[in-house]
Amino acid sequence: MRHLLSAGDLSRDEAILVLDTAKELAQVSGRSVKKYPTLRGRTVVNLFYEDSTRTRTSFELAAKRLSADVINFSAKGSSVSKGESLKDTALTLQAMGADGVVIRHSASGAAHRLAGWVDGAVLNAGDGTHEHPTQALLDVFTMRERLGHLEGLRVAIVGDILHSRVARSNVLLLHTLGAEVTLVAPPTLLPVSVHTWPCAVSYELDEVLPKSDVVMMLRVQAERMKDAFFPTAREYSRRYGLDRERFARMQRDAIVMHPGPMVRGMEISAEVADSPRSTVTEQVTNGLSVRMAVLYLLLGGSESGIGNQEGQA
Ligand code: CP
Repeated sequence: MRHLLSAGDLSRDEAILVLDTAKELAQVSGRSVKKYPTLRGRTVVNLFYEDSTRTRTSFELAAKRLSADVINFSAKGSSVSKGESLKDTALTLQAMGADGVVIRHSASGAAHRLAGWVDGAVLNAGDGTHEHPTQALLDVFTMRERLGHLEGLRVAIVGDILHSRVARSNVLLLHTLGAEVTLVAPPTLLPVSVHTWPCAVSYELDEVLPKSDVVMMLRVQAERMKDAFFPTAREYSRRYGLDRERFARMQRDAIVMHPGPMVRGMEISAEVADSPRSTVTEQVTNGLSVRMAVLYLLLGGSESGIGNQEGQA
């Protein structure tokens, strides 16, 4: 595969290869020198048109741990404010020799458009409400690490599905890997096309919760909402928030996930977010290994022989 645009583009074998490669690359974090020489001489451009904390920093660190040169481009403070288009911006950065472009953009489909304009590999770091494939990869990596398997895993994804690129990418990837996903949301926060997605749908969190091995809570994306989608935040939280009482009704070994950023007290209580069964910070740690893996596999190629390399600067 030349680009990573959609979690749905990954075959089962390709997804497993990313997860296994991430597991191997994670070992570098325990070394005193946390670097592989694999991408020495390659250039990775991080092209962020939307705000990000986790994705941007972990892609930057992932590229640096593989010894790539990194250019961090943020739309704020660039010539985008003078009217420069995405295409011209991308071609300008390509002219500097970008081998890989990581893009986050508010427009669904922006990563696909970019892939038609540049020669290097394009990695979708979140495009509008469409997809966030590396988030899904780090989420399934985390599930496999915590629970030991993915086949037959019952995963509930709860909250603002309508605006969530994380939900769509997770549904596609988890389906490919044999997990059973149930989306839980009020009818107003589900896409009209959800019946075509490979998953079940419920409006009742209290029915789904006790049958789930994984409960993934999503933030209500107020910044993407022009209308009112539920009566009040308090009412939403009462029906769809994961608080102490609901947490107590989950299976004993079930885990709680959240892609971040969280709104504590809205979709998840602080007590649940900080519980040992919450994987929120592990997801961030695993995001680094998974992004190293996709950069390695797309830019480094099989000749890199990562299994044989000692950590070195
Ligand atoms: N989960 C996620 O994409 O977080 P950021 O918006 O901080 O990158």
